Amino acid sequence: MKVNSADIVISAASKKQYPKEPIPEIALAGRSNVGKSSFINRMIQRKNLARTSSKPGKTQTLNFYIINEKFHFVDVPGYGYAKVSKKERAKWGEMMGEYFAEREQLRATALIIDVRHKPTEDDQMMYDYLKHFELPVMVIATKLDKIKKGQRKKQLKMIYDVLEMEEEDTLIPFSAETGEGKDVAWRTMLSHLKL
Ligand code: GTP
Ligand code: MG
Repeated sequence: MKVNSADIVISAASKKQYPKEPIPEIALAGRSNVGKSSFINRMIQRKNLARTSSKPGKTQTLNFYIINEKFHFVDVPGYGYAKVSKKERAKWGEMMGEYFAEREQLRATALIIDVRHKPTEDDQMMYDYLKHFELPVMVIATKLDKIKKGQRKKQLKMIYDVLEMEEEDTLIPFSAETGEGKDVAWRTMLSHLKL
C-alpha cells in the first residue's frame, strides 16, 4: 500500500469530538510505551506523525489520523502504566468503553504486544475485551529486532497460547525499527477495511 497522504484529524478527549464521516477505521491498543504510535509511523512511513516517546503515557487522547483519505488510524492511550492515579484509570476505562463498545466505523483492532515478554494480565484482559465486542484483533508482536532469530518461533507460540487467540485472528511479527512485518500487516488491515 502506497501512502500518499496522512494527517492528524483530531485529538479527541471525548465522544462528541470523534470524526463523523462513515469511513472505516483501525484502532491501536496496547500497554503504555509498547510501541503503538511507532507502529502507525512505520506503517505510513512518517517519522513522527503519531508522537512517540521513551516516557510512557505520551498518548492521552484518542488521536485520529486520516490515511489516503480512505480510512482512519486511531491511536489510543496505553494501559498498565504504574504511575497512574485511580481517577485517571477510571477515566481511561470510560474512554475505552465509549469508543470500543460504540464506534460503528471500527473494523478491527491492532493489539500491540512486546515480542520479548509474556502478555501481561492487562494484555489478556484487553484481548478478551475486544473479542467480547466481536472485533477482529490483529496481534502485532513488535520489537522483533530486539530478539535473536532463533527465539522468534518460541516467543510467538507463547504469545498465541497465553492470549488464547481465536483462529480468525492473526499474529504478526513486526518491528517498527526495521519495518519487518509491514507488508503482512498492511494486507491484513486492508482486508478488514475492505479496501
Ligand atoms: P504511549 O503512547 O506512551 O502509550 O506509548 P506507545 O505505545 O505509543 O509507544 P511508542 O511508539 O511511543 O514507543 C515507545 C518506545 O519504544 C520508543 O522509544 C520507541 O522508539 C520504542 N519502539 C517502538 N517500537 C519499536 C520497535 O519495533 N523496535 C525497537 N527497537 N524500539 C521500538
Ligand atoms: Mg503513543
